[in-house]
Amino acid sequence: VTLADQKILRGTGGETHQVATGDVPVLTTQQGVPVADDQNSLKAGSRGPTLLEDQHFREKIFHFDHERIPERVVHARGFGVHGYFENYESLADITSADLFQRPGEKTEVFVRFSTVAGNKGSADVARDVRGFAVKLYTKEGNWDIVGNNIPVFFIQDAIKFPDLIHAAKQEPDRGFPQAQTAHDNFWDFISLTPESINMALWIMSDRTIPRSFRFMEGFGVHTFRMINAEGKSTFVKFHWKPKQGLQSVVWNEALKLNGADPDFHRRDLWDAIQMGDYPEWELGLQLFDEEFAEKFEFDVLDPTKIIPEEDVPVRPVGRMVLNRTVDNFFAETEQVAFHTGNVVPGIDFSNDPLLQGRNFSYLDTQLKRLGSPNFTHLPVNAPRCPFHHFQQDGHMAFHNPKGRANYEPNSWGEQGGPREAPEAGFNSYPEHIDAPKQRVRSETFADHYSQARQFYLSQTEVEREHIASAFTFELSKVETPEIRARVVSHLLNVDKGLAETVAEKLRLKPMPQPADAAMPTIELKESPKLSIILNG
Ligand code: HEM
Repeated sequence: VTLADQKILRGTGGETHQVATGDVPVLTTQQGVPVADDQNSLKAGSRGPTLLEDQHFREKIFHFDHERIPERVVHARGFGVHGYFENYESLADITSADLFQRPGEKTEVFVRFSTVAGNKGSADVARDVRGFAVKLYTKEGNWDIVGNNIPVFFIQDAIKFPDLIHAAKQEPDRGFPQAQTAHDNFWDFISLTPESINMALWIMSDRTIPRSFRFMEGFGVHTFRMINAEGKSTFVKFHWKPKQGLQSVVWNEALKLNGADPDFHRRDLWDAIQMGDYPEWELGLQLFDEEFAEKFEFDVLDPTKIIPEEDVPVRPVGRMVLNRTVDNFFAETEQVAFHTGNVVPGIDFSNDPLLQGRNFSYLDTQLKRLGSPNFTHLPVNAPRCPFHHFQQDGHMAFHNPKGRANYEPNSWGEQGGPREAPEAGFNSYPEHIDAPKQRVRSETFADHYSQARQFYLSQTEVEREHIASAFTFELSKVETPEIRARVVSHLLNVDKGLAETVAEKLRLKPMPQPADAAMPTIELKESPKLSIILNG
């Protein structure tokens, strides 16, 4: 029906009333009551006060008043799309996870890309880590790989996450900056948290100003486990490699883009998918055993470290194609709930203290954000395989168990509802733990500089210049001289040339002493693989 076909009436005040005719549905209230007039509230007389009796007006305003839900406490600004994952070969020897059993098996996915620090309305091309969260709707339940586009993280223990995020977000007394890393609180925290220095190098690299979501890598960051049908465990790190290659903008492009089009990244992904130019990533696994973990220079449970690809090559095991935009941004992108704790039989956690904390945090925050323990009833969060449980009631429950049985064990035989699956169900890997309970950081986590140097040296000359410029720009926005000097004191432990360049550009005098290092740094081989990836 075109505008011209529509029956239009003029109201007594000259207002437009579009009348339902032919196939055009009738406007109703939430209760399904047909609406006669959506332009005027019910009044006492034509110029009198609005009447409380007007149920249509009250329902409409009431609903509008409650449209907003809290934005995510981090990763508030994001963009989600649908697609599928296709498995290349059977991985039955490594994992019993159903999606990896059959070559060519396709599994539906929902992916949400995001910035971390910016609020929901902030600009896309901010210098920031990007979230890369993938929900795989497998036949044995939903598996979420809740990753980032950087393979390491700022902190080693989840207990520091609120401090990190408070320091990274806008300062509490002034409410700015909204989306940039350039401010005193952020660099104060970084400079007082030596474990964050490796990540600081990564975020000052071009990786944090990607050209688009399509040209980014994704990483699960933590070490996870894969468990096969015999119960054998293999450690694994997850990588998403973009078939488009890896591309970034440069800083002055980023600034212009943010001004000209704050929606640059979401528009890019929308346009690409609408045009049928579907972006693809390969899922790669770094697989290793206890023996490798024992002899590796760093602790595989430390999320501030990578395992170089020369030491453990990335094995491509499947591809992910993103080919469908959402029907409704709020229903899908805003209400999707990713959670590191969502794993399926055949996948398990490691003891990485950051991962262990995340496994508490996501469910907790989502109850607050989505307002009901029944957010798994929303289509974007619901499993796409059969599911049966005895959870009931709560706000907005519409999958309550049918019939008499809402508990087990019970005596109702076939009418008694679902039962356990001792073998096929999810069983945690029976890792042996015999250790004192203590609040401590492992000394195997103590080398904070060697990998930062390895990363810096793996960069090309131009990329190193970008890192030096980024540090200079960011620190030039820091007003407190001690904080600038403290950051440079860490850089002295990473690369003297980098530290001197930044200090000189900041006119920092005198040159600070290198920061105290908990342990001497070690000479690692430069990682040529890393720079090949970086150059696309
Ligand atoms: C959200 C990644 C560390 C708490 C997210 C999202 C991603 C992500 C991608 C956005 C999910 C979405 O698109 O809806 C990571 C990575 C981490 C990390 C890769 C470290 C390796 C942590 C830690 C905590 C945490 C340590 C807390 C202890 C949260 C919370 C949200 C979130 C509360 C908001 C979730 C929501 O409201 O739905 N994270 N995160 N994250 N993350 Fe993390």
